[in-house]
Amino acid sequence: MPLQKHKRRLRRNGLLHPPAWAPWRHTGAARRRPRLSIACAALWAAVAACAGGAAAWADVPTVLATGDLRGEIKPCGCSPEGQFGGLPRLLTFVQQTRGASPQPVLVNLGNNFPAPSDQGRLKVELTQTVLRALPPDAILPGPNELALGAEALDAALPYVASNDRVGRVFRPRVQVRRAGRTIGIYGYLSPSLVYQGSQTRFALEPVTPAWLQRLRAESDAAGDELRLLLFRGNDEELAILADAQVFTRIVGGNPFDDELHQVLTRQVGAQTVAQVPTKGQGVLRMPLGVGPAQVEWLGERYADHPRAVAAMSVYDEQVKQLFFRQMEQLQRAQSAAVFAGVATCEPCHKPIVQLWSASGHARAHAVLVGAGKQFDPECLACHVVGLGSGGYINQTVTPQLANVQCENCHGPGIAHNGNPAAVKPRPAVPAAQNPLRPGEATCRTCHRGSHSPKFDFPTYWAKIKH
Ligand code: HEC
Ligand code: HEC
Ligand code: HEC
Ligand code: HEC
Repeated sequence: MPLQKHKRRLRRNGLLHPPAWAPWRHTGAARRRPRLSIACAALWAAVAACAGGAAAWADVPTVLATGDLRGEIKPCGCSPEGQFGGLPRLLTFVQQTRGASPQPVLVNLGNNFPAPSDQGRLKVELTQTVLRALPPDAILPGPNELALGAEALDAALPYVASNDRVGRVFRPRVQVRRAGRTIGIYGYLSPSLVYQGSQTRFALEPVTPAWLQRLRAESDAAGDELRLLLFRGNDEELAILADAQVFTRIVGGNPFDDELHQVLTRQVGAQTVAQVPTKGQGVLRMPLGVGPAQVEWLGERYADHPRAVAAMSVYDEQVKQLFFRQMEQLQRAQSAAVFAGVATCEPCHKPIVQLWSASGHARAHAVLVGAGKQFDPECLACHVVGLGSGGYINQTVTPQLANVQCENCHGPGIAHNGNPAAVKPRPAVPAAQNPLRPGEATCRTCHRGSHSPKFDFPTYWAKIKH
């Protein structure tokens, strides 16, 4: 295989770091840099001054990029393999690195908010509280931020979208000074990713040569020596922005939400653009100039920052209040119960009930209590029977439906209990999708992603076979 092709393939698979590219190829101010060093070499008398200059150039500012939280404010604790990320560790990491000299440039690629819901709104509040404590130098708004309406964005945070024509919510650029350099931070959020409807607070426009030219002129006028672009969009847009050679470096948001198969680079033409890990599991670290990007995974060695922990417990209390409010409504709305609970199966299926009692499924509610998450509907969904569909309400009203039970896999059992020979339980996942009856597809409604990274049907089924 020709070397270039081989390298391309390695890069596609994320095995090669992005190629280094020199800042002076992209910015007018930095282009003078090689000439400066030649002049220095010729001037013996100016050795000291030159050494100072060379040292300054060696100190390329470091960029730390995060984002793509997608509502994952803290690892769920379901399985040791999935335990990366979370706002409390991020705050610890950032406070540790903030002390470094020169101070790194901290950016956030957005898409931090969860899908819209009452609980989602509480998460938005928590997320922005922690972002204010960091705080990043610039944040690119993502589609998740805008799904809740621009009103949800905290005006105190530096949301940057340079391709917004209105300028009421987003800043066109942010300028910072690091390592003796003036750095312009720009943001591009593709209009193709956002439903703009008839709102008037922002208007994202697609990349065009005229827009790039204007940005370049404004950046020169503002005295930027280096330019960093925060990008979220499609391949065509990225290719245009990369080819324009306006930016010293581009860093991308992550288009994928599969945290077990992180895709950390994106190939456009001859260039590789690094993108932040998804679900906030790590921080991308790279020089604003030549050099590869690396990921610092936010594992257990980063303690939870007390300030974020305090914000988390406010959140947990709010979620608990919300839970009780919602459950009252649910109770009123509920007509007839459909789930019977495992105790009612016992008289006729004793051996199976005994096997089940010894399995992890019979402890699924207890582990939530252990984690202090027994009031969080997002967790209960997979740890009890029929939450939100005529099943579990809470420990006072429906204690018999706590844990993962027979009816999670076999479907509601009240009708079968009354007339077992005539009425069979209906599997939770229809037979057509489930050749093994309540088999693999049923398991995967809960054993998915970071909730069960090692899930393998034959191995897991062997442990609970009946
Ligand atoms: C999509 C379904 C799903 C959701 C949502 C979910 N879990 Fe789990 N959880 C699982 C599964 C499946 C396992 C078993 C993992 C395994 O053993 O492979 C598990 C295991 C656990 C365990 C470990 C149990 C043990 O015996 O060690 C804890 C603790 C836990 N979950 C807590 C939570 C918390 C807290 C939340 C909410 C933030 C949550 N889970 C949300 C499916 C889920
Ligand atoms: C009064 C006794 C009785 C009770 C109570 C009972 N079952 Fe059954 N169950 C049976 C009998 C008998 C069969 C076999 C029916 C047949 O194959 O004709 C059966 C069959 C099943 C089957 C196999 C269905 C199939 O498609 O072949 C499942 C699954 C099942 N029961 C689950 C449950 C669950 C879950 C509960 C509790 C919610 C429960 N049963 C309660 C007697 C009972
Ligand atoms: C985690 C999912 C799960 C849970 C929980 C579960 N089952 Fe099953 N059960 C299955 C699967 C899958 C099969 C089918 C196995 C096969 O066909 O090879 C099965 C088979 C059965 C059968 C035999 C059906 C037949 O015709 O052979 C009965 C009866 C049954 N389960 C009852 C129960 C009872 C009672 C409970 C609760 C104590 C229970 N199951 C809990 C997944 C589950
Ligand atoms: C309704 C959600 C749900 C479904 C459906 C489900 N599980 Fe689970 N499972 C869980 C949760 C939650 C746990 C963690 C409970 C614990 O271990 O404390 C778990 C734990 C387990 C464990 C224990 C893991 C261990 O380390 O011992 C096994 C095995 C397992 N599940 C197998 C299965 C299989 C096989 C299926 C499908 C036939 C299935 N589960 C379907 C939620 C589910």
